[in-house]
Amino acid sequence: MKFFVDFASFVTKKAYFCHTNDSKLINHVMATTKKTKPETKTVKRTQTESKRLMGLENRYGAHNYHPLPVVLHRGEGIYVWDVEGKKYFDFLSSYSAVNQGHCHPRIVKALKDQADVLCLTSRAFYNDAFCEYEKFIHQYFGYDKVLPMNTGAEAVETALKLARRWGTVKKGIENDKVKIICCEGNFHGRTVTVITMSNDPSSYADYGPLTPGFIRIPYNDPKALEEALDKYGDEVAAFIAEPIQGEAGVFVPDDGYLKKCYDLCHKHNVLFIADEVQTGIARTGKMLCSEHDGIRPDIVILGKALGGGVLPVSACLADDDIMLNIKPGEHGSTFGGFPLAARVAVEALKVVKDERLVQNAEKMGKIFRDEIKKLNSPFIVEVRGRGLLNAIVTKPIGKKTAWDICLKMMENGLLAKPTHDDIIRFAPPLCIKKKELMQAIGIIKRSFEQMAK
Ligand SMILES: Cc1ncc(COP(=O)(O)O)c(C=O)c1O
Repeated sequence: MKFFVDFASFVTKKAYFCHTNDSKLINHVMATTKKTKPETKTVKRTQTESKRLMGLENRYGAHNYHPLPVVLHRGEGIYVWDVEGKKYFDFLSSYSAVNQGHCHPRIVKALKDQADVLCLTSRAFYNDAFCEYEKFIHQYFGYDKVLPMNTGAEAVETALKLARRWGTVKKGIENDKVKIICCEGNFHGRTVTVITMSNDPSSYADYGPLTPGFIRIPYNDPKALEEALDKYGDEVAAFIAEPIQGEAGVFVPDDGYLKKCYDLCHKHNVLFIADEVQTGIARTGKMLCSEHDGIRPDIVILGKALGGGVLPVSACLADDDIMLNIKPGEHGSTFGGFPLAARVAVEALKVVKDERLVQNAEKMGKIFRDEIKKLNSPFIVEVRGRGLLNAIVTKPIGKKTAWDICLKMMENGLLAKPTHDDIIRFAPPLCIKKKELMQAIGIIKRSFEQMAK
């Protein structure tokens, strides 16, 4: 039994390295992996135990989520195991925060190594890990400066503050008149200012009063942006958009939409902010999704996979003329840029390049969409996406909904979650190989077929 567990874990670890040709690197990581991850046994507890644990959350946790009824215990690469020992393909990847795969040995090692030395300093002092990270991320993405935060929502708030500050200081808009244009169907996070941008009542209802200064226009509609800019342009500091609307149900705009918006923004001296929290870091088959339209946003917001599926790490990237308008003491976060996060983010980004996750996401994504489109199910209305951020838009048949399909897939060994009731998002870790992808597609197909019976 022990042999079997160790062998299985060896095989899965090997899967991490299928996209790199660097045998030295592979050997090194396999060696260190052995040291850092000695005995990860899959526990086998009973159904009663799952029920007990879910009962604890129900009783003692806030009811702000509606999880699928599965209690996870362990993750490795593209797989997770529940407390009963059942193995699943993870096709949510923590909403695209686990692009590099669960418990990636190099990222976990970076975390452990740094944890032994220095975890937290605040930014009251310099810390060596963060200084190195600042240079690294500058070279990686080509922006002058990084402003570190922790969660996606905080980075969005930071981008809004950067834009407002730039609007008053550089563009000369009167302080209380600064406006930011956002899109219908957006999801940028959960803080009060951020939910102000949302037109989804489940995000903003009964949380008032909300924050003034936003104009909302339809997504994927450059004409609407043009009209808003013609009308309010002098008072607009920025336009903020997701290059693909993830939470809205993986809504992919027309080719050229982002470029048209970018050009309009620049015509009106307005900043273009790309919220790449979900679409960034290789998820859509480019390092940043904005690259699909060949643009370089004025402010890029990153989160999720920047922390390698290990820690909350987020950031705003911008050039000096935007970033340096915020002076010492005018914005910050106790944990933003903490040494653990800095080391983890560097390793997470290195892994993306070393394992060619951009290329793999592009290739596997095409296979996924091609295969799923062949599926002739009465539940399926549309298959859409880019790279490995994909969705099946479903319609209910009788009383069977997307939720029931997700339960069926879970029963068959694959985890995915509906968004907006009828859309199922499929976003596996980007290290998935073709053979594994085909197995997963087999489960999805089987589940849809079983549901149609
Ligand atoms: C595009 C986008 N922006 C911001 C956020 C918020 O990130 P967080 O949940 O880390 O605050 C999300 C989360 O799903 C997102 O998809």
